[in-house]
Amino acid sequence: MPALTAIRGFKDILPKEADLWRLVEEKAREVVRRFDFSELRPPVMERAELFQRSLGATTDIVEKEMYTMEDRGGDLITLRPEATAGLVRALIEHNLHEGGRATKLFCLGPMFRYERPQKGRLRQFHQLDVEIFSDPGPHSDAEIIVLLHSFLSELGLPNLSIVINSLGCPECRPAYRKSLVDFLTGRLGSLCPDCQRRLGQNPLRILDCKVGSCQEQVKDAPAFPAFWCQDCQDHFKVVRESLEAQGLPFSLDERLVRGLDYYTRTAFEARSGDLGSQSAVAGGGRYDGLCKELGGPDIPAIGFAAGLERLIMLMAAQDSAAGRAGPDYYVAILAPEALGPAFRLAQALRSRGLSVAADWEAGGLKSRLKRADKAGAAKAIMIGPDELASGLATVRDLTTKGQAGLPLDKPELF
Ligand code: HAM
Repeated sequence: MPALTAIRGFKDILPKEADLWRLVEEKAREVVRRFDFSELRPPVMERAELFQRSLGATTDIVEKEMYTMEDRGGDLITLRPEATAGLVRALIEHNLHEGGRATKLFCLGPMFRYERPQKGRLRQFHQLDVEIFSDPGPHSDAEIIVLLHSFLSELGLPNLSIVINSLGCPECRPAYRKSLVDFLTGRLGSLCPDCQRRLGQNPLRILDCKVGSCQEQVKDAPAFPAFWCQDCQDHFKVVRESLEAQGLPFSLDERLVRGLDYYTRTAFEARSGDLGSQSAVAGGGRYDGLCKELGGPDIPAIGFAAGLERLIMLMAAQDSAAGRAGPDYYVAILAPEALGPAFRLAQALRSRGLSVAADWEAGGLKSRLKRADKAGAAKAIMIGPDELASGLATVRDLTTKGQAGLPLDKPELF
């Protein structure tokens, strides 16, 4: 019988990668703490309706990428493709917006999208998701972009850029949409089949199409700025000024759109030049209408999500994190009667917080030293008949090769 493998697009995070993961997750937690965010852990499954109502019925995610199934009670449930909708649902359900100040939440965990797996694109992937609720002002847009920038730069990632745009609001976007549709209708034949379909349903997404002929067509298409209403212009101006005042490098991309329908006004992405076609390491924006759309109060919001796999790929490529260090000690017993004292010593060292690997089978000195080296241990502790007689364990520094005898019954001296 052939051995079973993991599901396509679902990846094991192996021990040799797990340290890098922990490093990125710890950095994420540290940065959001500094910006005063609190953690909310929503479930990984929600009612399918939550995503259908929030992400947009004609988005790729809702149309073809959701893991939706009927549970045994006949309810349609979905593995979350992103975290924002669940956080908004939880915010409303638990009245977390009450209290007169902005509610700042983050979530770290796996998301699921049935996409075609490729480099930087998985079916189970992980996001750091960060959201600010109840603050309509442009300064929170700038603050969240600054947070993203701090996170990325403290991970030491080179070759990253932050691009921003404003997608307008329900007041001004319909006019932009109409002018874009008018422009592209005359060029329908040159668009890919997906975009021909998008023209009627979700024309803004055409701006983002990766197909060469579509990119060619949208080059001269009308751009957002000419259509922004006064409020959107004012809002976006302050966002830019605030970012400049904080010395944050960014560029404008008038064609930046996002793959989800809930956005209003500020939208942004962090992109890497080292990732090929899946270049976005993070993306987000303002979504002032979503809470109300989901049956809650009219709460403005802004947030982003960063894809941890992509960050980790970049970090692994530049080898910025050292691999896992080996244990502090490797205990080798050179005679069966050393087992008891070796057990006790290893346990005492572990309870002092030291990491200890061991070989509980007695063996020759040479073979045990070889194993200690292979384990990457800093020091080997050897216990055989001589050590038992003298009460002194032989401790060998595996780098300097220096050796000393330390009392077996005084673990605090190791
Ligand atoms: P998104 O742009 O769909 O936004 O995803 C954010 C990031 O998740 C992407 O930039 C990418 O790094 C990562 N990502 C997305 N799909 C995959 C995949 N299949 N494999 C690997 N990484 C992936 C959102 O999810 C919004 N909820 C962000 C947001 C929060 N907007 C406001 N608040």
